[in-house]
Amino acid sequence: MNTSRTILLAVTGSIAAYKAAELAREFTRRGFAVRVMMTPAATRFVSPLTFEALVGSPVVTDLFDEGPEGPIPHVSLAASANAILIAPASADCIARIAHGFANDIVSCTTMAFSGPLIIAPAMHENMYLNAATQENIGILKQRGAVVIGPDSGDLASGGRGAGRMSPVETIVGFTLQAIGRSGDLAGRRIVVTAGGTQEPIDPVRCITNRSSGKMGFSIAEACRDRGASVLLVTAPTSLTPPAGVDVVDVTTAQEMFDATQRAVNQADALVMAAAVADYRPGRPASQKIKKDSAALTIELERTVDILGSLSGSFLRVGFAAESTDLEHNAKSKLSAKNLDLIVANDITAADGGFGADSNRVTLIDRHGGIDRMPLQSKRDVADRVLDRVVQLLG
Ligand code: CTP
Repeated sequence: MNTSRTILLAVTGSIAAYKAAELAREFTRRGFAVRVMMTPAATRFVSPLTFEALVGSPVVTDLFDEGPEGPIPHVSLAASANAILIAPASADCIARIAHGFANDIVSCTTMAFSGPLIIAPAMHENMYLNAATQENIGILKQRGAVVIGPDSGDLASGGRGAGRMSPVETIVGFTLQAIGRSGDLAGRRIVVTAGGTQEPIDPVRCITNRSSGKMGFSIAEACRDRGASVLLVTAPTSLTPPAGVDVVDVTTAQEMFDATQRAVNQADALVMAAAVADYRPGRPASQKIKKDSAALTIELERTVDILGSLSGSFLRVGFAAESTDLEHNAKSKLSAKNLDLIVANDITAADGGFGADSNRVTLIDRHGGIDRMPLQSKRDVADRVLDRVVQLLG
């Protein structure tokens, strides 16, 4: 998907330089072309060869290197990039960029670049908290740079405190968000629901379902990467929410309804990927139920149908989890819930549906258009759903 896009990864002198190898790998895995430049200090921590092997192209370490870029690499590198990510960014590198120095390959190329600049600082806490570093970071933020972290935790020096480079997934997420700022959902606000709601039986047990949340999280991530601001309303899952996405945690169907109703008032679209429990115990026990009878009957009552009850004018996308008559049932839900688009999936298929990383879905829109899609990753399904959302939003 991203093969035509290039990330220029700048590695500077910090012990966290070894983590930049993971970043290079992650962007390559996602289909980006990655070029790497390193300051001389960075090469003392990690060999350029590591990055060359990972990204399959030469690493530029010298401003006067005459590599494939020709005699002035900083200009051609800057021209080829969709974003510059400096990770780890040392205090020295941040200072030089903030004050317009251009005497090494990283600062010089950054100065010649006008696209998204993402900076992940990593240094000892005292250096990070030093007034000079704080001011320099402030200057870069003011100029529009995205500064990620640093996080707090164990530092290489042995102490604890602020200064650890943020986790790879977080840096990747914010970088993709920065690159996607001008995507086809730029300026749109999208609410996404995910996960299976939990309806309490007593303080220990609940009624829930097998939803992993993966489909909804993939939709939220894809919305972010295409420029939307995203609010993810999620029932409990074991997943880490995508970086750069606002999250509201809920447990029950009623909580999900309340949070979603509040959120859709300012939204352009709602993608309802959550698996909402249709019934809940009518009177949940306030104490743990003891096994003192041979059989137990729990009376259930209907929960709110969230999609069917939300008020407001926004594009409505629902999912239909079906085990029989897929298209017929999905069409009935499309009209009963007054949806613009429904994503129908056969939950009996072993290679798709609940818990899997892939999904085979059929998209049915309010005009009767039907698109039967092949098995693909949940992220690819998310992008195909959003292609239709972009069209329907006009
Ligand atoms: N949904 C909802 N509120 C509910 C139940 C479902 O908003 N109480 C939403 C789901 O998030 C999904 C769509 O409605 O986007 C269809 O959900 P599904 O479980 O397939 O259908 P139900 O409406 O629950 O109908 P049934 O279980 O009878 O198939």
